[in-house]
Amino acid sequence: MALHDQLSALAAELASALTSASDERALEELRIAYLGRSGKITEIRRGIGKLPPDERPTAGKSINDAVAGLEAQFAAAQQGIELRKLDAELERTLDVTLWNVPAPLGSFHPIRKTIDDACTYFVRHGFAVLLGPEVDTTRHNFDALNIPPDHPAREGFDSFYLRPDLLLRPHTSPMQIRAMEAYPPPIAIVVPGKCYRRDAVDARHLYQFNQIEGLQVGEGIHFGHLRGMLTGMCRELFGPRQEVRFRPSFFPFTEPSAEIDTTCPGCGGGGESCRTCGGSGWIEIGGSGMVHPNVLRAVGYDPDVVSGWAFGCGIERLAMVRYDIGDIREFIWNEPSFLEQLA
Ligand code: PHE
Repeated sequence: MALHDQLSALAAELASALTSASDERALEELRIAYLGRSGKITEIRRGIGKLPPDERPTAGKSINDAVAGLEAQFAAAQQGIELRKLDAELERTLDVTLWNVPAPLGSFHPIRKTIDDACTYFVRHGFAVLLGPEVDTTRHNFDALNIPPDHPAREGFDSFYLRPDLLLRPHTSPMQIRAMEAYPPPIAIVVPGKCYRRDAVDARHLYQFNQIEGLQVGEGIHFGHLRGMLTGMCRELFGPRQEVRFRPSFFPFTEPSAEIDTTCPGCGGGGESCRTCGGSGWIEIGGSGMVHPNVLRAVGYDPDVVSGWAFGCGIERLAMVRYDIGDIREFIWNEPSFLEQLA
């Protein structure tokens, strides 16, 4: 058989042998049989020696071309085997009929959500959000807030002392002092944050809770600004029909002072047998008033030039009313079933 026919017969033979080589071992055996040291190509090469010398170079070239062709066949077969292996692997591991179960997503804690929503409202009205230290001095917590050492109001703010002049803050009001000491008037800030009091834990009390403080001081600031801003905050948190009323009260750092009530979102103010407000139609959410001249003086502001208002609300209280929660301890029990309801 002429060399050329011999080589094309070999290529055809390999093509058919490869169709039944289903794995890499079978492929390797064929490779040895065709291209190996004592394989079919070697055998054909040996024949070159018997040719007349002038035909040998052409014959050598034909054989090399044929080897390249065989190698290409092997490469293609190898790729085919790899693809089939991958398909088999995917078949085994990827179940495209499996239901696409979404990963569980976390959500904001109702306290965080209430803080964020209240702050967003104030930021929209030009207030800055400040955070302050949870450990603060008696000067910031009391003295500069017009509560002298022997004042009975200190007992109401009973707290955890670290030193005689240093305590876990019982309210966010010390940040009124820090803010006014840091910035000249006019000033408009809110301060959310943790507070501490030596209260026994029950359905309405925690020894660690959150407040949001608000303060606006400038020329011509009056009680109407306080009323407007707090009405807006209540509408933001509880709904568009909220009303706010002020009941005369006492805080050493405000004069006049008032407790803030908002219409009960549970009954819309109707009262009677409402569980949320106990029938009064109103919910108490915090304290407020016009900043006392002594407080303005303590930070170097001139009470003859500027005036201001301040308020402080318990965040847990706001969240309890907002989400109709009867027990303040729900917020710290970390029950997924409780938290998921409010997500
Ligand atoms: N700090 C007061 C409290 O915790 C609330 C308050 C803040 C009252 C600002 C008036 C002005 O009870």
